[in-house]
Amino acid sequence: MAEELDRRILAELDVTGHVNSYDFATKLGVDHQLVVGAVKSLQSVGDVRRIHLRRFGSSFAASFQVIHVEQKRKERWETTGEGNEVAERGSHEAIVFHAVDRDRGTLQADLMKSSPNAKVGFSKAMSAGWIRLDKEATVHRKVESITDTVQELLKAIRDGRVGDATDAQLKDLKKRKLVSLVIIKSLDVTKGTNFSTSVQKLETDLTPEMLTAGNWKDKKFKEYNFDARGVLPASGHLHPLLKVRTEYRQIFLEMGFTEMPTNNFVESSFWNFDALFQPQQHPARDAHDTFFIKEPKCAHEFPMDYLERVKKVHSEGGYGSQGYKYDWKIEEAKKNILRTHTTAVSARMLYKLAQVFAEGKASLDLLHLTRLSLQDKFKPVKYFSIDRVFRNETLDATHLAEFHQIEGVVADYDLTLGDLIGVLHQFFSKLGIKKLRFKPAYNPYTEPSMEVFSYHEGLKKWVEVGNSGVFRPEMLRPMGLPDDVSVIAWGLSLERPTMIKYGIDNIRDLIGHKVNLQMVYDNPLCRLNKTTKT
Ligand code: PHE
Repeated sequence: MAEELDRRILAELDVTGHVNSYDFATKLGVDHQLVVGAVKSLQSVGDVRRIHLRRFGSSFAASFQVIHVEQKRKERWETTGEGNEVAERGSHEAIVFHAVDRDRGTLQADLMKSSPNAKVGFSKAMSAGWIRLDKEATVHRKVESITDTVQELLKAIRDGRVGDATDAQLKDLKKRKLVSLVIIKSLDVTKGTNFSTSVQKLETDLTPEMLTAGNWKDKKFKEYNFDARGVLPASGHLHPLLKVRTEYRQIFLEMGFTEMPTNNFVESSFWNFDALFQPQQHPARDAHDTFFIKEPKCAHEFPMDYLERVKKVHSEGGYGSQGYKYDWKIEEAKKNILRTHTTAVSARMLYKLAQVFAEGKASLDLLHLTRLSLQDKFKPVKYFSIDRVFRNETLDATHLAEFHQIEGVVADYDLTLGDLIGVLHQFFSKLGIKKLRFKPAYNPYTEPSMEVFSYHEGLKKWVEVGNSGVFRPEMLRPMGLPDDVSVIAWGLSLERPTMIKYGIDNIRDLIGHKVNLQMVYDNPLCRLNKTTKT
């Protein structure tokens, strides 16, 4: 087909001396792009070559083209889908006019139901002076007969006789969305200096056969196209969540935080809830909110002395607290679950930290050292984690049963709510978020607790971006951390900023089997605002 088209273009040029790709495609009834392709291939047959005149030490460009091609831009009026319908059946106003009973008139309400576009038709027919409305809401014909100019014009335009319409008429039809102006880019072709109706196909490869037969000497070869686009090399692609995760990780690292090990999705209720002073009757510990593991149902290894202290603080209180005053059961604490938050990991890490401190304290006690130098043994820490958590939620556009949490924890002497507010400002300003507001909240393990809101410039409102607080003594003291050490922490989801960043409004478009992999491939790099100096 393509070769056939090449030949027909050359034949036409030979006879008429001129071919326009668009008109030619219309004439042959073939797709315009096919003709464009054929013209381009003919164009590449002969090219501008550099001729070296050695004797004169100079060179000049000479054209050996078979055809000469010029870009052309044409505008053309075309009828729209609705325009075609009007050309077929008549304008909305004519249909309304004909629907009005010639003698008695027609009730306006009935007339409105008589055709799909009766409303437009009615007002157009009124302003054309074809009909009138009386006080009883009845519509009457005002004229004997009408000429449906709109239909006539649309027929003419549809059949390529635009000349029949004035500029004003075209403008009006365009406003009514009955016609549109389309721009047609085409190629105007004329004979080149090397014109011939029989062109030799250019070779693109030098083959071993040509070399052995020696006929390469008679072949014409296609010039290299150094401007051609290369093929993208195949490579792996990072999921948007991973890209955003990397950015958050970078921010924590810049702030001197260390990453916590989060590689256990299965956790015991003890570390997920009990260690965090969350009572055993708390509704979050229900099967409706938490996934319980069937096999193995229970965890068995716990630091027993610590477990006893946790039991005590729940059931009797201590460290200045009244506790919850209930019968704490180890069976409940042993139950394995899918962790519901990464704060379980923070609890394990803080306990470990307390152990290091306790060991140091024990060895110092042996040396009878003073309390001050012993306190120095506790090294303040800044920890973070970003990993998956699970909740038995009702799934909807913004909730899945598993998601990712970003968590920051700072343990140091005498930290206050002011420190928490300060560190939150620093953290969020690294994300380009400057305006923050805090609202008192409740978590079983923090007091005070604050929800964090930021002003969303796009949505023009305050949106919740995280949760935070100062860990309770009921959580920290049983672990064995020094009395004057306090711990501040905050958490947020990874999905929410990712969805905002990449403009995704349904979480199922981000994770799960319905994800469009092309979205993952084409997704741009994530650069959270890094211009802020803190
Ligand atoms: N664990 C909390 C949550 O799941 C977040 C949080 C972390 C709150 C640390 C306070 C301190 O929402």
